[in-house]
Amino acid sequence: MVDIKKILKRMTVREKIGQLSQYNANLFLDTDAMVTGNMDMLVISGEDLKYVGHVLNFKSPAEMRQIQKEHLQNDRNKIPMLFMMDVIHGFRTIYPIPLALGCSFNPDLVTECSRMAAREAVKGGVQVTFTPMVDYVRDARWGRVMESTGEDAYLNSVMGEAQVRAFQGDDLSDKESIAVCVKHFAAYGGAEAGRDYNTVELSEHTLREHYLPAYKVCLDAGAEIIMPSFNTLNGVPATANSWLMKTVLKDEWGFDGIVISDFGAIKELIDHGVAQDGKAAARLAFDNNCNIEMCSAMYFSYLEELIGENVFSMAQLDEAVLKVLDLKKRLGMFDNPYRGADVTDIEITHENREVSRRAAEECAVLLKNNGVLPFKKSTKKLAVIGPFADNHNIIGFWSCNGKNEESVTVADGIKALLPDAEITVIEGCGDEWNDTDTSGFDEAVNAAKASEVVILCLGEPQDYSGEGNSRLELELHKIQLELAKAVIGVNRNTAVLTFSGRPMVLTELEKTAPAILHMWFPGTEGGMAVANLLFGFANPCGKLSMTFPRSTGQCPIYYNHTNIIKYGKPGAHKPYCASYIEHDNLPLYSFGHGLSYSDFAYEELALSKDAMTADESIEVSITVHNTSDIAGKETVMLYMCDMVASTARPVQQLIAFKKIYFEPSERKVIKFTVTEPMLRFWNNNNEYVSEPGEFRLWTGYADHLVLEKKFSLMIGSSDV
Ligand code: NOJ
Repeated sequence: MVDIKKILKRMTVREKIGQLSQYNANLFLDTDAMVTGNMDMLVISGEDLKYVGHVLNFKSPAEMRQIQKEHLQNDRNKIPMLFMMDVIHGFRTIYPIPLALGCSFNPDLVTECSRMAAREAVKGGVQVTFTPMVDYVRDARWGRVMESTGEDAYLNSVMGEAQVRAFQGDDLSDKESIAVCVKHFAAYGGAEAGRDYNTVELSEHTLREHYLPAYKVCLDAGAEIIMPSFNTLNGVPATANSWLMKTVLKDEWGFDGIVISDFGAIKELIDHGVAQDGKAAARLAFDNNCNIEMCSAMYFSYLEELIGENVFSMAQLDEAVLKVLDLKKRLGMFDNPYRGADVTDIEITHENREVSRRAAEECAVLLKNNGVLPFKKSTKKLAVIGPFADNHNIIGFWSCNGKNEESVTVADGIKALLPDAEITVIEGCGDEWNDTDTSGFDEAVNAAKASEVVILCLGEPQDYSGEGNSRLELELHKIQLELAKAVIGVNRNTAVLTFSGRPMVLTELEKTAPAILHMWFPGTEGGMAVANLLFGFANPCGKLSMTFPRSTGQCPIYYNHTNIIKYGKPGAHKPYCASYIEHDNLPLYSFGHGLSYSDFAYEELALSKDAMTADESIEVSITVHNTSDIAGKETVMLYMCDMVASTARPVQQLIAFKKIYFEPSERKVIKFTVTEPMLRFWNNNNEYVSEPGEFRLWTGYADHLVLEKKFSLMIGSSDV
């Protein structure tokens, strides 16, 4: 058994700093490895490279093995490097983007997908993933919305926890587990105007209630590492924000694991204007407990000097290094520095494709259906039209070692499902926002006229979301809208598929489309999932985890807002009313919206009692009936509102949900337990409390809440 304290004793200061430094694989190999940040800022000497303790972004297990081998040959201490990567929604087999996973409301599915990704990643030579990203987000203009599970802190916490537990397993040394790095701490998703890397200004109340909880849940679930975010939070960049990194993370939450900076974020403290030079940047970051520096070299350049000047002690340096060595040890790196990495590239298995397909089916959200779907299985002549008709680029941003060309396109999926049908595939127009070429319209319209059914495949390209990809307009591109009008104009038997990494504005499309199925970016098996969903071999069951605005100008828009005064009934604008001139503030599709081929009737919501004290609980029983003859899954949600409190409370707040399978005609009673901690909020005295009073409970989904019941909390925690 390796003795890491003994190793530490013989290490030089530069060797120690190496354990606190991470660089891109292409610095160690003569290849054009993937890079996920700005490398221009990086200046590091060849001498220091041999001390480096961590690598990110390599293309294959062979590369990982080569880097590790050469490193161990040069390192007198024989400390293996750790290899990290953004395994965000699959490693080799890509499953739907996290925002889509949020719509599944199924943590078991997230667990299954994450376990699959962990197994593949181990073989790919990865020991740490920069996931889960649990940034709470309310603004769909922000490109990184695709990495979040949505606009609800509770949902994000449940999904984040599922990922942490699935990736890390019960034992880190297990060869099917990798360590996780939860990110981006904190509130990166609050970037002003949805512009990536922009300023974040949030009250403590909003931070504590919506933005912070999911990080805490992930850490409590055992996440080994946390990454401070790029943004400033209330004036101070997260990496140097002592309130965030010391007061909250360390002192209050007791986090004692590893903190790794984001890509170049320590050097960027200079750009933020909080450090006058690199030395000040290194000082700020290290002082705020940032242990590992990713892709800038401020620690290599200045940490030794700062220790020499007694700004930091050797004990502080040792403490950080020990944490790193301890993680390497627990991952089993000292026993086997290649830890399950294959010698050849890994291939996608049939079994993993099946997991990805099921996930894509469960994440798709049926936004509208006037009865045209499901299409008849006996359909003989169809047209698949649009820029996503035969497009492999549907796996989404952050697709790791996934390959676009290996994905199943919509056309391929339909052809595989209906081998005897006559299928015409036409692009019709391009997918870029400024495309204007309508020369493909005639062919598309003629094919639509001549077909029994039309599958119209629209959306925004996959590189319009993800890091650095913010948008000013969420509207479906003008040319695609025109194509939709032309095609639907000649064939009403049309279902529109929409692909995107964010909520879109589909207001115009909704007016004409007989059916809209939102696919997000569904991953490797996207086209197969589409085929099964459209022809009734799978039943849509996704529910939106994020609001779809009616117009971009509504952003940020979210379901759990406080009461908007002077609103009155939704409708046209009236003077002195909280509505826009053009229309009121209702979204096009609310959080929780999502149709099914089954019909679910919510029949009763019963409470075990109508009052409780802080140490009691109330049982909630919701009777749901599948009144159709089609089996399906339904997410049963429980919402509450604290009617009068010392701070204004959200008009609705999701406090529990369960995803349930129903046989045809089946009726089930779904049970939830309401306890006092579920009623707490952050008050103006900076306390997390519940207050006595009346609460409303509902089921259904935001803007369509049903079966309201009230109960009272007799004594809240604020009285104790
Ligand atoms: C920058 C991104 O913000 C972060 O999410 C990612 O983990 C790192 N680059 C590494 O790729």
